[in-house]
Amino acid sequence: MNTNFLRACKGEAVDHTPIWIMRQAGRYLPDYHKVRGKVTFLELCKTPELACEVTLQPVDILGVDAAILFSDILVTPEAMGMDLEFQEKRGPVLPHPVRSQADVDKLIVPDPTDKLGYVMDTIRLLRKELAQKVPLIGFCGAPFTLATYMIEGGSSKSFFETKKMMYAAPEIYANMMDKVTDSVISYLQAQAEAGAQALQVFDSWAGALALCDFEEFALPYVKRIINALKPAGVPLIYFANNGATLLEKTKTCGADVLGLDWRVQIEEAVKIIGPDIAVQGNLDPCALLLPEDKLEKRIQRILDGAKGAKGHIFNLGHGILPETPPEKAKFVVDTVHRLTAK
Ligand code: CP3
Repeated sequence: MNTNFLRACKGEAVDHTPIWIMRQAGRYLPDYHKVRGKVTFLELCKTPELACEVTLQPVDILGVDAAILFSDILVTPEAMGMDLEFQEKRGPVLPHPVRSQADVDKLIVPDPTDKLGYVMDTIRLLRKELAQKVPLIGFCGAPFTLATYMIEGGSSKSFFETKKMMYAAPEIYANMMDKVTDSVISYLQAQAEAGAQALQVFDSWAGALALCDFEEFALPYVKRIINALKPAGVPLIYFANNGATLLEKTKTCGADVLGLDWRVQIEEAVKIIGPDIAVQGNLDPCALLLPEDKLEKRIQRILDGAKGAKGHIFNLGHGILPETPPEKAKFVVDTVHRLTAK
């Protein structure tokens, strides 16, 4: 088993800098389309054999140092009782958004082994398949990011309805966030029990918040999750996308690893974060379209910039784009391994 990823999370010595890629199982891979052509996205998530198959694809094709469970952050709100659809052009749609205390009252805190049992089945299958290969990462959405989808009813640009609830009805917002947080905690605990060897909390929209709002309306819930998961004994990764302005606060969240998007210079981030937390990131997903010599220079700069951190896991600064040639993703993996081989 290649344990470089797990060792880097803990700041231990590695044979080479480990790399995995956010959204590494997905639409840029022809092999993914082959499977996805037969079922809807949610059916794919809910069929353990198929979810397992697409999770393994990037491990075999790219040679990454970790697998990430194939699923979606929005299965949590669905398990809480919300309707969820993925529409080809619009992405996720939750047709009955949460706008009132009555809507919050309708949400349940699900038993994950019941409502999300298919995820645990996928994890158990994956651990068998991955036994001699690489560790498996489980994940969830952070409460604030989940709240944006639940309140807006889908993707959003300004997050108007979410912020309106935060500012005008803070008790309703807090009641909802308590339920989301409790749901996420038991979901991650169940993932760890089923065999997930690391857990990442995706806060994709944290960067939409002013620092004071992040501190009041998002961070406390992330801290609750991380505190509750510490006893599970697996590395915890917190990724606040577009979070350069939040680093002074995110570094207090308690995670073993902080994910960094590409907008921040990694050495500047490490200066703020300090030597006691590992970092993950942070190549611009669009940089994969650079010619190979320029791409290699960008990779080297990131590797150099991360040197002051407790550990470094190479990754993109956000999900790989569907337009990316798979050979370029493979080039990044091979280059990180070659440049850092001990
Ligand atoms: O990283 C991986 O390979 C694991 C799988 C994974 C998916 N979604 C599969 C997916 C993970 C970790 C996620 C997390 C997720 N989902 C996030 C957080 C990460 C981020 O990107 O910020 C968010 C915000 C979502 C919500 C979501 N799911 C949106 C907005 C969309 C539509 C936009 C898009 O990229 O298609 C999805 C759909 C989705 N999730 C797809 C995949 C492979 C595409 C579905 C398809 O096959 O059509």
